[in-house]
Amino acid sequence: MNERWYSKAVVYCLDIDTFQDSNGDGVGDIRGLIGRLDYLARLGITCLWLHPIHPSPNRDDGYDATDFYNIDPRFGTLGDFAELLHEARNRGIRVIIDLVVNHVSNEHPWFQSARSSPDSPYRDWFVWSEEAPSDRKQGMVFPGEQDETWTYDRTAKAWFYHRFYDFQPDLNITNPEVREEIKKICAFWLQLGVSGFRMDAVPFIIERTEPGNPDSPKDFAFLSELRQHVQWRQGDALLLAEANVEPAELTDYFGGRLHMLFDFMLNARLMLALARHDPEPVIDALRDTPALPDGAQWATFLRNHDEVDLSRLTADQRADVFEAFGPSPDMRLYDRGIRRRLAPMLGNDLRRIQLAYALQFSLRGTPVLRYGEELGMGEDLSLEGRMAIRTPMQWSPARNAGFSSADTLIRPLAEGWETLNVTVQRNDRQSLLSWFERMIHTLREAPEVGAGSCEHVDVPVPRGVLAHRAVDSTGSMLFLHNLADSACEADMSSLAAEAGYPVEVLSDDGYDPITDDLATVALNGYGFRWIRLRRNS
Ligand code: NOJ
Repeated sequence: MNERWYSKAVVYCLDIDTFQDSNGDGVGDIRGLIGRLDYLARLGITCLWLHPIHPSPNRDDGYDATDFYNIDPRFGTLGDFAELLHEARNRGIRVIIDLVVNHVSNEHPWFQSARSSPDSPYRDWFVWSEEAPSDRKQGMVFPGEQDETWTYDRTAKAWFYHRFYDFQPDLNITNPEVREEIKKICAFWLQLGVSGFRMDAVPFIIERTEPGNPDSPKDFAFLSELRQHVQWRQGDALLLAEANVEPAELTDYFGGRLHMLFDFMLNARLMLALARHDPEPVIDALRDTPALPDGAQWATFLRNHDEVDLSRLTADQRADVFEAFGPSPDMRLYDRGIRRRLAPMLGNDLRRIQLAYALQFSLRGTPVLRYGEELGMGEDLSLEGRMAIRTPMQWSPARNAGFSSADTLIRPLAEGWETLNVTVQRNDRQSLLSWFERMIHTLREAPEVGAGSCEHVDVPVPRGVLAHRAVDSTGSMLFLHNLADSACEADMSSLAAEAGYPVEVLSDDGYDPITDDLATVALNGYGFRWIRLRRNS
């Protein structure tokens, strides 16, 4: 058993409902996904992260569950899900699922029972206040879509707490029964064969809610308890967490608690670096990230299913990213983010898109890719809020992009699907998809990338160029990425002694072979070169 499998994984996330419809109802389903596993295997991904799979009224795209022990009937049955796990495993692909236990849907039977009577066995599973909480206008996650964090329930004759929308009552994590239930949910899905969980909203789960005190302390003990529990049930089970917190707080989440955290800080700095054509923010991020305990790992990403979150940048930095990537108001969301996919943010410039992903995949951490990124899929800004970036997968130039045979789809296709789809890109060796396949396979052959150390190579290089190096016991690799539009040359001769016989393993196109002295390494505008310096075995 490889307990640290997540350190060398390539994660791909998708919503079942927008990936592939097999029964013609316009909504993607599990059988459809099973039919596309060979595509994912060929792409080279090793772990599939599924967005919420449970029954849900879908007021927050599934992040509002009504039954944690079942599958949304639109997707299929538990039997179909077991088939999916089997078929994925046959192709060497692990599956992790979203674990959304900070809150439930207000239609969940637990909440319905809790509100019906103070004597309900579920009353204390939620967070209530008899009085109107004075801080209820604070701590909103979705400003503009959410007015407060406490809502009065007339049936319950009390206020209930909800970090997110008012239809998502928070579970009371301080209640031991709730903790036991969460462990049981994890055990259930592990028993079925999932490899772990992407835990939603972790800082809020462990918030000890005290009405009137928005800064109430965090209960990290619960994370240790949960880690132990899942590890007893399945030794190599993964807990990958969404915890967008201040850098100083990050280390509390690791070490006997969570295995992996999404690197939100790096994400915002990558956006800033791309917007300014300047690698400094990434260099800062590499320098500032706390050292991780043994076994802990970052998950890197450029885009996810939510808005690009720029809240941790300064006002000036945020303004630069907005100007470059979200110039019009309808591209922006919650005063802090951008509701766009990466390719259109980068002007659909193939060189720049490849540069961005080459950089993401070469940095420390496990790369996470979202469906459609491998094609450079676009968004539909006419859709509401975050739905703009949740359009169906584009498989072919056939009707409905090969996603479904229905007349009406769950959501419209993003513009341009007739030419931007898997079939067209598969037949084109210069396409983004073909490049992604090569890049991911190169990465998987490079053991030092991702799991090894990752450091900035601090030598004078042209402005716009980032030089960094991955090193572990198997060898070392040098990466040069030019975030600027103009060609240049970098002098990396200080690394020549270490290199001996440098070998280029991946680059954008058209360079003369690399010379052993590394004295003049040419880079195109938005060019990149991955150069193996040393291989020990
Ligand atoms: C974080 C998820 O990424 C987001 O999509 C969701 O709306 C909230 N958590 C609430 O569950």
